[in-house]
Amino acid sequence: MYKRTIIEEIARKLCKSYHIKEIITPVFEHTILFQRGVGETTDVVQKEMYTFQDKGNRSITLKPEGTAGAVRAYLENSLYAESQPTKLFYITQAFRYENPQSGRLRQHHQFGVEIFGSASPLAEIEIISLLTEFMEELGLKGVKLYINSIGCKNCRKTYNEALLDFLNEHANELCGTCKERMQKNPLRVLDCKVPTCQEIIKDAPRTIDYLDEECKGHFEELQNLLKEMDISYQVDTGIVRGLDYYTRTVFEFINSEGLTLCGGGRYDNLVNEIEEKQDIPAVGFGFGIERIIKELDAEGVELATEPAVDLYVGILGKESRAAAYRLVKSLRKSGLIVETDYMDRSVKAQMKYANKIGAKNTVIIGADELAAGKVNVKNMDTGNQIEVDLESIGSIL
Ligand code: HAM
Repeated sequence: MYKRTIIEEIARKLCKSYHIKEIITPVFEHTILFQRGVGETTDVVQKEMYTFQDKGNRSITLKPEGTAGAVRAYLENSLYAESQPTKLFYITQAFRYENPQSGRLRQHHQFGVEIFGSASPLAEIEIISLLTEFMEELGLKGVKLYINSIGCKNCRKTYNEALLDFLNEHANELCGTCKERMQKNPLRVLDCKVPTCQEIIKDAPRTIDYLDEECKGHFEELQNLLKEMDISYQVDTGIVRGLDYYTRTVFEFINSEGLTLCGGGRYDNLVNEIEEKQDIPAVGFGFGIERIIKELDAEGVELATEPAVDLYVGILGKESRAAAYRLVKSLRKSGLIVETDYMDRSVKAQMKYANKIGAKNTVIIGADELAAGKVNVKNMDTGNQIEVDLESIGSIL
């Protein structure tokens, strides 16, 4: 939890400097939103959603990702009517009924950003630049950026024909799901994890060979900008992403073991697919928070350690309790981390406890100290003791 808090703090600080505003969307949405948004033929919709009937007989689904809900909120709150772009971020839980394993959870958390209203490759740069800074701040070095373009609706038509021709030649060797998917949405066949399918997919036509002039131009401009910004990347023509809404740019940040920590891209048709009257381009990413923690551990990166207790206030005698607790309260108010005894322990046991929790300093408050108005503050590292006025403890810590 402590690591997560730091990760979230870094994310929030970065988003603030990028002028990206935070949103929270509900944990569940109408199932149809994900069916239409994420896509009927995706693994997420076909196999991984937690879908329930509520008491009003509505089909609801725990959000498997953050984008569809963000788009719904953007539309429902008419954010498109404000000056564009609209730049939003979220830190949310997400639910996917997957086979749980290391790095793959049924409830995970994502830090995500969505930018609405810009068709310019500079919007991709904004997202990718934030991500590279995010990883720099976290201290991650082993995660690399891979990009690809899967074109727009136009390019998809010609590409799908070529892909379908190719898949037809291998139809007998494909798994059952792929046989079904290739008719409805051949691109999704490329996500298949079945080894025999993967062997075939390796030689499938590549989306970047079927881009129209505009999509080609967009991809080239993006790459030029990345180079000019000194952001290192590699084109990986195998990246098509597992969700249906992407158009043009897709990208992933992948670690040395091939685990994707962050995925995203442009989705210029999704807003329109959810609300016919609006036609607004968008781009975004989702970063798995548990996968960040896994990567930090694997790379041996220590995020700042949990702050230590500045002072342990020991209590000697019941009659000193209120005065001791008043002191604790006032020192906490001044910003110090202060602990005391709630267990009616002996002074010896209290000091043992103070040592155990790593308190930097200790002090004992009893009737004598209160009468004299003076206390001994002990530095637990050096063992040195200093006598100070009761009111001045804060100034020496
Ligand atoms: P996604 O690639 O499905 O994209 O998920 C984003 C990230 O969430 C992954 O790269 C991974 O780190 C993490 N993740 C996904 N599933 C799991 C899981 N079962 N266990 C642990 N971590 C997981 C999206 O969700 C898109 N909404 C991203 C996006 C935003 N594209 C545009 N805007």
